[in-house]
Amino acid sequence: MSKLKTRFLDKEFKNPIVLASGILGLTAASMNNAVNNGCGGVTVKSVSKDARPGHPNPTMTGTDHYFINAVGLSNPSVAEGIKEFAKFKEMTNAPLVGSIFAGTPDEFAEVTEIICQSPIDFLEVNVSCPNVSKEFGTPFAYDTKAVEVITKKVKEKSTVPVIIKLTPQAWNVAEIAKVAEDAGADAICAGNTISGMAIDIRARKPVLHNKQGGVSGPALFPVALKAVYDIYKTVKIPIIGTGGITTGEDAIAMVMAGASLLGVGSAVYYRGQDVFEKINNEMTEFMKKENINSLEEIRGIAHK
Ligand SMILES: Cc1cc2nc3c(=O)[nH]c(=O)nc-3n(C[C@H](O)[C@H](O)[C@H](O)COP(=O)(O)O)c2cc1C
Repeated sequence: MSKLKTRFLDKEFKNPIVLASGILGLTAASMNNAVNNGCGGVTVKSVSKDARPGHPNPTMTGTDHYFINAVGLSNPSVAEGIKEFAKFKEMTNAPLVGSIFAGTPDEFAEVTEIICQSPIDFLEVNVSCPNVSKEFGTPFAYDTKAVEVITKKVKEKSTVPVIIKLTPQAWNVAEIAKVAEDAGADAICAGNTISGMAIDIRARKPVLHNKQGGVSGPALFPVALKAVYDIYKTVKIPIIGTGGITTGEDAIAMVMAGASLLGVGSAVYYRGQDVFEKINNEMTEFMKKENINSLEEIRGIAHK
């Protein structure tokens, strides 16, 4: 696996695959399970100042082509979450990415202070969830001013490098990434799900209780790939490419677009809990065939 070793900011990852936020919850055991199944690092489910029950069921549906969820950012609160993060770090030394969201810039700062009391290695800032717009209005990630203010507030309080998670649905996602970089972000995650819906044609109504949800999985891949490609041209800070990565070939394409780390989420539903190991093996196989010695050799190569 040494061909896959990746340095991201100040940390060494045994491979570039990170579990995406929200996919296997935030208990230490389930996150450690992802590490045992081949993940180079883990992102926790986003936590907020207060506990949230999330949306009523049904919250998820999918086909071979896409997955759609409206979980509604359910979580037990940052104070409860950090207990699990400490336990995780006792189990493994794999890098841990904390993830937060909040309703206002000041609340982002407050949650940052609390989560930084735990042994996270990085802090991802979720300004881009499409499923809670009824409560919080338009996702901050569409708004350059909001991204600037939140990034600055979080940077002031964070004791670890800050990753701003954007949405590839913003037409100017590259410009927004540049705003985040100028405001002090250490990295960009591109990105979150995009807004969509599913209709049960027999019941003649939307499948999800929330009616709309976030689209992830294979259908999101080309959208996320282009976002990473555009952002790579615009910023110097590293990018976590996330969205629809399901195979080793997807992962390689994401690196060629410019990604340093690769977030993998919905692929767990398509290929099982050991999908991380499978993707790593497929990447290694491809690199062997193509005489590629390191990911550094091909990072951003599609721009040449
Ligand atoms: C069930 C579910 C829950 C999610 N929860 C979160 C979350 O709490 N915070 C966050 O930043 N992203 C969340 N996401 C988005 C994923 O982290 C990821 O950005 C997105 O699913 C695209 O990647 P994928 O196609 O590999 O799943 C969630 C996605 C799913 C499917």
